[in-house]
Order: sequence, then structure tokens, then C-alpha cells
Amino acid sequence: MLNLAVCVSGGGTNLQAIIDGIESGAITNARIKAVISNNPGAYALERAKKHGIASVCISPKQFGSREEFNQALLEKLDSCQVDLVVLAGFLVVLPETLIQKYQNRVINIHPSLIPSFCGTGYYGLKVHEGALKRGVKVTGATVHFVDEGTDTGPIILQQPVMVEQEDTPELLQRRVMEQAEWKILPKAIDLIANGKVRVEDGKVLIQE
Ligand code: GRF
Repeated sequence: MLNLAVCVSGGGTNLQAIIDGIESGAITNARIKAVISNNPGAYALERAKKHGIASVCISPKQFGSREEFNQALLEKLDSCQVDLVVLAGFLVVLPETLIQKYQNRVINIHPSLIPSFCGTGYYGLKVHEGALKRGVKVTGATVHFVDEGTDTGPIILQQPVMVEQEDTPELLQRRVMEQAEWKILPKAIDLIANGKVRVEDGKVLIQE
């Protein structure tokens, strides 16, 4: 059984997709041990509560230093015996100590086809604004392992989404969530939970 911690900052629709996936059986061999948010007002916390999932707010603002925040986050993960950390719209940079300790055990959902529209400054609606400004015809979402860089870890799954001429950033964001994020994040968790994912020379190999 894979113990998950899902880290959130906002609405939690990706968290909801994971919860629904576990409850429907689309995701097997995994359970959410904790939902961690840096934002006490995140609706994602309400979603966790509705499903009886333990949740906690751990924010850099609660601590005198970033180091104390980093330590508190690490202690929470260790205390829950977490096997896989899932970043689902988590807007806090993880400490390198955590990434090293959880090497290839932290995954992130990014709302573009990496390496396009990613890296510093590309998050949330800004990703879709960039895609529309560039005039791309296809965008999508990526699930990747988190390494010390920003959106640079080994890619696990990607799902393309067609851009439509009348798209606004909001319309495009919604379609990318519906058609890509909410599908590939649960799928990636199920594959990892069932031992079908491994990393070789920085590339992800999936046993289907
Ligand atoms: C999603 O668009 C995701 O791609 C990005 O942040 C957003 C989180 O949305 N990382 P939600 O909190 O899962 O609804």
C-alpha cells in the first residue's frame, strides 16, 4: 500500500481527482495519509475534510525561518510514513534536503507539455497566457518527478490538449485540467503504486 501525502495551495481539483480515483478503484494500492497546505484558506482542505482525510496547514509564514518550515514539513512527511509526495498545485518551493531524501518519490503536475512554458514564473494561469501569446495549437499537461530544478525532473506522463481559437487563459486552463491533469495525475499514481514505473538514466520507463 503506497502512502501518499498530497500538497496543495488552492482549489484542490487535482486532489479531488486523486480522491475520486482511489474511491472508484481507478487508483489501486494507494491511500492518502495526509493533505498538506501552505494556505489555510485553500478549498482543497475542505475537500479533504469531506472525505475524512487528515489535513494540516504548514506554511513558511508560521515559522521564524525557512529552515524551521522545511524541518516541520519533513517531520510531517516522516511521521506519516509517506512513500510518495504529490504536488497538486503546491506553490511552495521544496527544500533540497527533502528532494534528496525523497528522490524519485515526489511528483508534480504541470499544466503544459514540458519543456514548453515551464520553469521560473510559469505557474497557474501564467502558463496558459504564455501558450496563447505564443499561438501554440497544442498544449497539455505533464506529470514529472521533482528534482532540484523547476519542472526539470524525469517526465512520467503527458497528455496533449488542442487549443481553440476563442480560448482565453481561463477557458484553456479549465480544458487542460479536465482533459489532461485530472487524468494523468491519478494514472501516474496508480502506475507508481503498482510498481510499474522506474527511472533509468534520467528517463522514465513504464511497464504496461
Ligand atoms: C493546476 O492547474 C495545476 O496544473 C497547477 O496548479 C493548479 C492546481 O489546481 N499546478 P487545483 O488546486 O488542483 O485545482
